[in-house]
Formats: sequence, C-alpha cells, structure tokens
Amino acid sequence: MAYNLLKGKKGIIFGALNDMSIAWKVAEKAFEEGAEFILTNTPVSMRLGTVDKLAEKCNTIVVAADATKNEDLENLVQIAMEKYGKLDFVLHSIGMSPNVRKKLPYDKLNYEYYHKTLDISALSFHKTISILKKNHAMNDWGSIVALSYVAAQRTLYGYNDMADAKSLLESIARSFGYIYGRESKVRVNTISQSPTMTTAGSGVKGIDGLMDFTERMSPLGNATAAECADYCITMFSDLTRKVTMQNLFHDGGFSSMGMSLRAMTQYNKSLEIDTEFG
Ligand SMILES: NC(=O)c1ccc[n+]([C@@H]2O[C@H](COP(=O)([O-])OP(=O)(O)OC[C@H]3O[C@@H](n4cnc5c(N)ncnc54)[C@H](O)[C@@H]3O)[C@@H](O)[C@H]2O)c1
Repeated sequence: MAYNLLKGKKGIIFGALNDMSIAWKVAEKAFEEGAEFILTNTPVSMRLGTVDKLAEKCNTIVVAADATKNEDLENLVQIAMEKYGKLDFVLHSIGMSPNVRKKLPYDKLNYEYYHKTLDISALSFHKTISILKKNHAMNDWGSIVALSYVAAQRTLYGYNDMADAKSLLESIARSFGYIYGRESKVRVNTISQSPTMTTAGSGVKGIDGLMDFTERMSPLGNATAAECADYCITMFSDLTRKVTMQNLFHDGGFSSMGMSLRAMTQYNKSLEIDTEFG
C-alpha cells in the first residue's frame, strides 16, 4: 500500500545491482511513493547487474559513477540538478572489501585493499555529501541515508575490515550531520540493517549460520530488504524531519539482545552433541 509519502520529492539512489539489492527495493518503494530519482552504479556493476531493468520500471535513467571518484560524483550531481533542480533525498547503499573477496583475515590484511575498502564503503559517503553541499544540491530538510551494520559497534566473526568501514561511515554521518544540519537543515543518518541475502551479503563469511543466529536472537526476527526499504522511505519523508546524526538499528531487536531462548535452545543442542562425541 502506498501513502504518497515522497510525492514531489527528487533524489539519487546509489547501489542497485540486481533485484536482491537493498537499493533496488528502496527504488521500487520510492517510485511507488511518488518520488522521482536517478539511479547510479559503477560502469562494471551496470554491465554485470540488471539496473537498466529497474530504471525502465521506475521511468528513470542510470548514470555511471564510481563513488570513490570526485569527478564522477560531480558529473552525477550536475545531471541530477539539471533534471530536477534541488534534491530531497540520497541513498548511499555501497559496500565492498577486496580483503573479504580475497579471503584475507583481519590480522593479515593487504593494506592497499584495506584503503580500497575504506574508500569505497565509507569515504565515498563523505565525498558524496561534500559534493552535494558544495553544489547547494539539497533542499532544506533534505535527507541523506547510508546503510550500515552492527559490526560497527560489536565484533562479529568474519566481517573483517568492513567493520572498520562501517564505524567510519557512522562517524561521517554524525560529523556531517552537524555541519549540514546547522547550515541547511539537511539530515544525515545511517540505518543499521539485519544480515540480508544480497550479492554483498553473500560475501560475508558464514552468512547462512549468521542469519539463522540473528533470526533466533531477534524478538521480531531478521529485517528483510523490503522492510529496510520501508524504513528508508520514512527517513526520506517529512515525517522524520528532526531525526539526524543517528545510527538507527533496523534489526528486529538484535542489537539490544544478549541471549534469547531460541538461540540458547539451539546452543544447548550443540553442547549435547559435543558431549555425546566428546
Ligand atoms: N546484505 C547485508 O547483509 C547488509 C547488512 C547491513 C548493511 N548492508 C549494507 O547495505 C548496502 C548495500 O548492500 P547490499 O546488501 O544491497 O548488496 P549489493 O551487492 O546489492 O550492493 C552493493 C552495491 O555497492 C556498489 N558499489 C561497489 N563499489 C562501488 C563504487 N566504487 N561506487 C559505487 N557503487 C559501488 C555495487 O555495485 C553494488 O550495487 C551496503 O552498504 C552493505 O554494506 C548490507
């Protein structure tokens, strides 16, 4: 059911690769809610993925941009402003770690890759906001959201250098949220999403076991990509105008849990097996 929450609002959505992507679901919902927006991704992802199909569905265009490159971001913002004038919302839904891809553990990181992880997954957020601000691209009370993960606060086996990138991402939201809010009333927040089966998600070590664990631990269960999209829409809407500089957990309650009955039951079963064979 649509509520027209984004009627007349204009934006940019980064990071839709295929129909599993969280950004894909956000684009579909934003369209349903009356928004107009440009989609963007890297040239390689545009070739490998199916973002063109999404553009067709949402009656829009895809502009190629590597979010680590200032010149690409400048070009993207110029195109968006020529098309729409000022913008109301931007979604940063970008993450990648070459160390994770190459299966290098945290105590044996390749530092060139580590720089790339931070550049792609966190500094690109800083660069995007800087360029939006420099070009006076956002309307007052506009909303900028990036997607994060609880590994920014807590250590989760296998999340590797992406945990550092997410900590930095959340810090950038606070630092820029202050400056952009003070000067132009623009909101900057991160949404910390449950583990979700997407292309990036499937790269996380032990994702199946992790998703089962978080499902059992969370009183409301894991949040899906579509539910994450709903939350993003509310953050882009006028109903959340005084929310800024926050990391907002969207995880069914996982981040406040220590141990649940369901997880404990499963854990105890594994101990029984251990005793049987041990
Ligand atoms: N899937 C999960 O479990 C999960 C959980 C919490 C947060 N997140 C975050 O959600 C966001 C979206 O990920 P997803 O799970 O939808 O996976 P996804 O693989 O569909 O999306 C990741 C996107 O990042 C894009 N990207 C990579 N390098 C880029 C660059 N240099 N410039 C521009 N774009 C680039 C990719 O092309 C891709 O579209 C990421 O920030 C991810 O860390 C995911």
